[in-house]
Parts: sequence; structure tokens; C-alpha cells
Amino acid sequence: MKASSLFDLTGEVALVTGASSGLGARFARVLAANGARVVVVARRRQRLEALCELIEREGGVALALEADVLDRVAMQRTFEEAETKFGAVTILVNNAGIAQSVRALDMTEAEWRRVMSVDLDQVFAWSQEGARRMLDANKRGSIINTASVLSFGVAKGVAAYAVAKAGVVQLTKALALELAFKGVRVNAIAPGWFVTEINDGYLNSPAGEAVKRAIPMGRFGEEGDLDGALLLLASRAGAYITGATIVADGGQVVSLG
Ligand SMILES: NC(=O)c1ccc[n+]([C@@H]2O[C@H](COP(=O)([O-])OP(=O)(O)OC[C@H]3O[C@@H](n4cnc5c(N)ncnc54)[C@H](OP(=O)(O)O)[C@@H]3O)[C@@H](O)[C@H]2O)c1
Repeated sequence: MKASSLFDLTGEVALVTGASSGLGARFARVLAANGARVVVVARRRQRLEALCELIEREGGVALALEADVLDRVAMQRTFEEAETKFGAVTILVNNAGIAQSVRALDMTEAEWRRVMSVDLDQVFAWSQEGARRMLDANKRGSIINTASVLSFGVAKGVAAYAVAKAGVVQLTKALALELAFKGVRVNAIAPGWFVTEINDGYLNSPAGEAVKRAIPMGRFGEEGDLDGALLLLASRAGAYITGATIVADGGQVVSLG
């Protein structure tokens, strides 16, 4: 089997949340470049439209749908509009997320709930809706959740984020188990540090330099470093992989440093 056909996504319909910037924008471009028609979802419509234009210039097909991932009515509408335009979503990338930097003793309950809602609860809601629709359409599918190295370790100031992202790994396993026999695979990617809008202030500071020095590969993740993991999980190359979390972090989580 040629790699080009193993990873080919022609005929697939991908929906990527959090596609208006950072990792999600890259995920959408990579899926489109490999043949999927792609629905890009976030709150900033202009960003999404600019991304669609870029994807189309690169030879892909994309649709921008504005939605807050916390809004269940918008979620339903998004899937419906995606289906009307392209057919059933067969690759769902739950990537929208927010960061947090508050010491645990200073955190309000509202802040805790905000992070848990965006970084965990909505991953369940979109996975549940996406999987139901894949099954209703008699499709096999792939759900890919964005976890984090903070799913496995902690740092100061990220209690809610780390708990939510650890939950994403467990949710991925739980859904994978229940959906395996039905033909829907559920996996996650756990990135290490990538400079995006979620963290650029921190990573571009002296504290960020210290973070970089502690990464065994000696660098932050760069554009393209998650492409392989994404395509493996999205395509028939990953046909027998479910419940897995692929860590792509330059060696960070295996290090004691
Ligand atoms: N960068 C890293 O080092 C790193 C490491 C590990 C994991 N991650 C995870 O990777 C994912 C993407 O993060 P990123 O680094 O690419 O950060 P980013 O550039 O800030 O992107 C976050 C995305 O999430 C969307 N989003 C946030 N809240 C939303 C909401 N309520 N409704 C809809 N969309 C929402 C944002 O879009 P709008 O603001 O337009 O809605 C944006 O597109 C997140 O889950 C993050 O936790 C990142």
C-alpha cells in the first residue's frame, strides 16, 4: 500500500473546532490538503473565512461556520449545516480550548467551571453529537480530541486545565470502548508546547526560555509537527487504532526534568 493512498481522505468530511487560529487552523489545512472537505468552526468568523480562502487557494474545499462550542443549539446547527453542504461528518476534531493561569487557592468556582466547560464538557457534547450522527448516517468515523502534555503532568497555575485535559484522555478511552464495535474510532493527540495565541505571551518571555530548555529536543513544537499524528488518526492508516493518545512533545513527558 502506498502512503499516499493509505492517508488519503478523499470522500471524508472533517469538522474542526477551534480552527480560527493555532493548531486547529493547521489541522484544517492538513485535512483539506489530503482530500477531506473541511468545516471550520470557532467564534471569530472573519478568521474562519480567511482560513477557507487559504484552503481553497491550496486546492481544498472548506466551509466556515461560526459557533461557540458551549452553545448546544449552535452545535446542532453546525452539524446540520455541515451535512447539508457536504454530507455527514466522518472526521471530528475536538480542538477548541482555552488556557488558564491561576493558582488553585486564588481560583473562583466560576473560573474552574469556565475551564472545565470549554476544555472538557464540550468535548463530550460534540463527540456525543458527532458519533450519533455518524451512526445515523451508517458511516464509519474518527473522532480526534486535542489533549495536552498537561493531561499527564502538572505545573503551577494550571489546575483546572490539567484536570480537564486529563479528563479528555479518559473520555477518549471511554468513548473508544463504547464505539469501537460500531465503527467509530476515538483518539487524542497530546501536544507539548507550541507557540500559539493561547500561550505566546508566556512562551516568548524569560519563563518560556526556561520551558524550552527543559524540552529534551530543545525546541517548541513547530508548524507541521502534528501533521503525521493527525493524518494517522484520521485516515485508514489508523484503522485499528482507537482509545489511543499520541504524545507529540519533543520528549517532554518522558523527562524527569
Ligand atoms: N499551544 C500549545 O502549546 C498547546 C499544547 C497542548 C494542547 N493545546 C491545545 O490545543 C488546542 C488549540 O489551542 P491553540 O494552541 O491552537 O490555541 P489558540 O490559537 O488560542 O486556539 C484556540 C482555538 O479555540 C477556539 N475557542 C476557544 N474557546 C472557544 C469557544 N467557546 N467556542 C468556539 N471556539 C473556541 C478559538 O477560537 P475563537 O476564539 O475564534 O472562538 C481558537 O480557534 C486547545 O485545546 C489547547 O488546549 C495547545
